[in-house]
Amino acid sequence: MNEAPATLIGTAIARPDAVDKVRGEARFVDDLAFPGMLHAAVVRSPHPHARILGIHAEAARSMPGVVVVLTAADVPGENIVHVIVDDQPALAADVVRYIGEPVALVAAETRRAARAAVDAVRVDYEPLPFVASPLAALEPDAPQVAVPSAAEGGNLFNRMVLVKGDVDGTFAVADVVVEGTYETGYQEHAYLETQGMIAVPDGLGAIAIYGSMQCPFYVQNAVAKVLGLPLAKVRVVAAATGGAFGGKEDVPSLLGSLAALLSSATRRPVKLVLDREEDVLTTSKRHPSRVFYRTAARADGTLLAIDVDIVLNAGAYQTLSSAVLWRSLVTAAGPYRVPNVRVVARSVATNTVPNGAFRGFGSPQVIFPHESQIDLVAERLGIDRVEIRRRNVLHSGDRTSTDHLVRDSVGIAETLDRAAELADWTARLERAATYNRASRETKRGVGVACVLYGVGLGGKAPFLDKAGATIKLEPDGSIAVAIGTVEIGQGLTTAVLQVAAEGLGVPIDRIHLSPVDTSRVPDSGPTVASRGTMMSALAVLDAAGRLRERIERVAKAHRIAKREIAQRLPEIARFFWLENFDPAVEGWASTEPVSWDPATGLGDVYPVYAYATHIAEVEVNVDTGEAHVVDYVAVHDSGRILNRVLASGQVEGGVAQGIGFALMETIEEKDGRLIVNGLTTYRLPTIRDVPLAAAVDFVEALFPAGPFGMKGIGEVPVMAAHAAVARAVAHATGRNPTRYPLDPPRIKSLLGEKP
Ligand code: MOS
Repeated sequence: MNEAPATLIGTAIARPDAVDKVRGEARFVDDLAFPGMLHAAVVRSPHPHARILGIHAEAARSMPGVVVVLTAADVPGENIVHVIVDDQPALAADVVRYIGEPVALVAAETRRAARAAVDAVRVDYEPLPFVASPLAALEPDAPQVAVPSAAEGGNLFNRMVLVKGDVDGTFAVADVVVEGTYETGYQEHAYLETQGMIAVPDGLGAIAIYGSMQCPFYVQNAVAKVLGLPLAKVRVVAAATGGAFGGKEDVPSLLGSLAALLSSATRRPVKLVLDREEDVLTTSKRHPSRVFYRTAARADGTLLAIDVDIVLNAGAYQTLSSAVLWRSLVTAAGPYRVPNVRVVARSVATNTVPNGAFRGFGSPQVIFPHESQIDLVAERLGIDRVEIRRRNVLHSGDRTSTDHLVRDSVGIAETLDRAAELADWTARLERAATYNRASRETKRGVGVACVLYGVGLGGKAPFLDKAGATIKLEPDGSIAVAIGTVEIGQGLTTAVLQVAAEGLGVPIDRIHLSPVDTSRVPDSGPTVASRGTMMSALAVLDAAGRLRERIERVAKAHRIAKREIAQRLPEIARFFWLENFDPAVEGWASTEPVSWDPATGLGDVYPVYAYATHIAEVEVNVDTGEAHVVDYVAVHDSGRILNRVLASGQVEGGVAQGIGFALMETIEEKDGRLIVNGLTTYRLPTIRDVPLAAAVDFVEALFPAGPFGMKGIGEVPVMAAHAAVARAVAHATGRNPTRYPLDPPRIKSLLGEKP
């Protein structure tokens, strides 16, 4: 098909979903309505831990407009929300374990009636001792969250270890040893669209779920389990999804289950959409962490050993905590060669909202420490911070902390060099020093951070790193591409269309993506772990190759020249039908085998790694403690960039999110209660907080097994950004910050400390 455009790969094709979104015509879940639809509201626990003595719903049931009130006793299938381990009930039965846990459900004719009825449901509780801090929860006499899935009955959910080489022996002889204890708090996803689901009877006892989500096949599983239905009777459709950032990986399984319970009980469509306050208070966040980190190095700056202890606050149920913790464990060394490694990682049950996936997935919690520590080593040895990284970053032929020999697509050194060049690193440091000598009130600082990110689910869940795709030549010559991963704003659909057009050799405007409906699209695995585009595109390429062959065969039989194929597809499509060629082709992709040994923590844990170096310059006002990012450079190695505008957009968004995490975002917790009122009391970065002149660039260390050499990008920007900003604050203040966020009070107290 010689008429195909030279190449679409790397070009800035406009997003097909952009026009609808800009016009306000995209249909998010709250825009959808079905005849006879009811509205749901949730009765939630006001206690962090309590026994349920009785639920009195008679008054609520007789209120005007109320159709049904359900409790745990009404669950037809298993009262379980299936995520990884089955420890979380859809509706609390005997005990509530966090403030906000669902206890009963109301469906009513209007949202207002449903909410009024929630207030009329009386639940008698006997409060139980509770524990909200993970460190307190690990004490021997701590109150027990008593989740059946906790190891050995205590509050410990997971404990994982990684041991390589001789850590103690190396620390004993190292030239330099530095250590620190680093803490990070909650981060709220703050997606524009709150969580929501609609459950609809789908005929013959089946059910359909429409909603805002990353992983429709996860929701299908959860709903089937809670209703006791076969998977084939549960259909899940992803509505336009207004941001997710990991927050719509696990939570939709719970909300989909709740909506499904009400629809199944009433045989009517039921809509459950959270308002902002309910969403912020009751859905997962980034795991708060405490990480102790000790680093040993040689006098020339070579890293020799790390000794790391990680504690994550999992909240009241495990949801995704074991997978999040695993990523903390296996990426604790960052993108550096470290021959001797010991990491102990624990996730702990507390009586707080279950924490789950958040862009970066357990890695920001170890990146803040590893980037702080390498700077401390540099400072002790008088080595430049870019230079010390240069001496330690991975190159092809090196081994990661898990002993993974990396050969292909190791671009970290190139990102570092390119970032230093774009930032004019040495001159910038001099300019900052000059500025600081002249300025008393404000001080400038420059920070650099390097990260690695394993793309995909890796060795802890290799069964998930598969993807299906279907491509169908329609009778009119248009082409339908079906994948099961979801557009959550990241640009996946655009990149996949580019790949499909390239693989098929037909103009992109002939190709259309099917809506993500589990009954119509193959399972492409979850839209998580920066894997969506890479895996879906691989499956699409697999299908496209075979459909292209078939098209060329039919064309040849009818003396249609290759260069005419794109033009004459409608004709060719008709020959498919007349001559009994199957117009639909299935594609499949899986990654290189990965391995992981739970006893040592070692293995080839990911199919490939993405890398980045960010450099941030901040200005700190020493009187007010305010830090402001004034300039920024971000360079990524995500292999081939399929669409530069979209990839840059990912980076810019991630930088904003990282600035928020480092400088302002947090939620205080008191007695198991999150002290936050929707987004009005949650500080997010605004346009005034982000550097408008950020320089974004890519080095493309091609991944031979990826589609056109691409890897993944989604999560990586936020991971590097917070650390670059924190290290810039460290440089400006001459102190080593160990706790996020670096908001004005904390910076002022830092400045009060001895350097
Ligand atoms: Mo993502 S944080 O792997 O949903």
